[in-house]
Amino acid sequence: MGIFFLAIISYFVGNISGGLILSKLLFKQDIREFGSGNTGTTNALRVFGKKIGILTFIIDFLKGLIITYIGSKIYGDIGMFTAGLAVVLGHDWPIVYGFKGGKGIATSFGVLMAISPLHILAVFGVFLIIVAISKYVSLGSVSVAVLCIFVGIYFIVKKEFFYGGILYIILAVITIFKHRGNIYRLLTGNESRIK
Ligand code: G3P
Repeated sequence: MGIFFLAIISYFVGNISGGLILSKLLFKQDIREFGSGNTGTTNALRVFGKKIGILTFIIDFLKGLIITYIGSKIYGDIGMFTAGLAVVLGHDWPIVYGFKGGKGIATSFGVLMAISPLHILAVFGVFLIIVAISKYVSLGSVSVAVLCIFVGIYFIVKKEFFYGGILYIILAVITIFKHRGNIYRLLTGNESRIK
């Protein structure tokens, strides 16, 4: 029963969207009506500038990190898995905001930072390099999602971190699914670059 409550609480923590809160509080606007319509860091950066973009990242990252850490402290690996998955689902499909949320990059980074900091820092490094070279945030996001599938398989094959491995793979699949529009725009040359 306890794990069920952890899932519910984590899902609602995921509903706390940095982009939405900041846009409504500071600009009396809904970020989803601008730019790509996404609530995440990239669109916050695009629509409201660097400071709001960074703040959005910090809020979305921290909620993933903190709730996953708490889940793992209370219930071990299964708690980590449950909280990590639920917080990303809550961010991407928030019931509080009509199921229209973000794409889960910052929150997933937070979740994975709680479970394997060294691996995810390396992945984040790859993300930054791809974005810096291409100027496409979505290309960085999708590329590291594919990379995370291999990290997940590595964990599973090594048989030392089964739940962590499965979580890596599930979060990567969710990320790719959420970026299907971006992938189409990248392939057709219509994706917008960051400045
Ligand atoms: O993290 C989201 C990013 O990869 C793409 O965002 O707003 O360009 O769809 P956006």
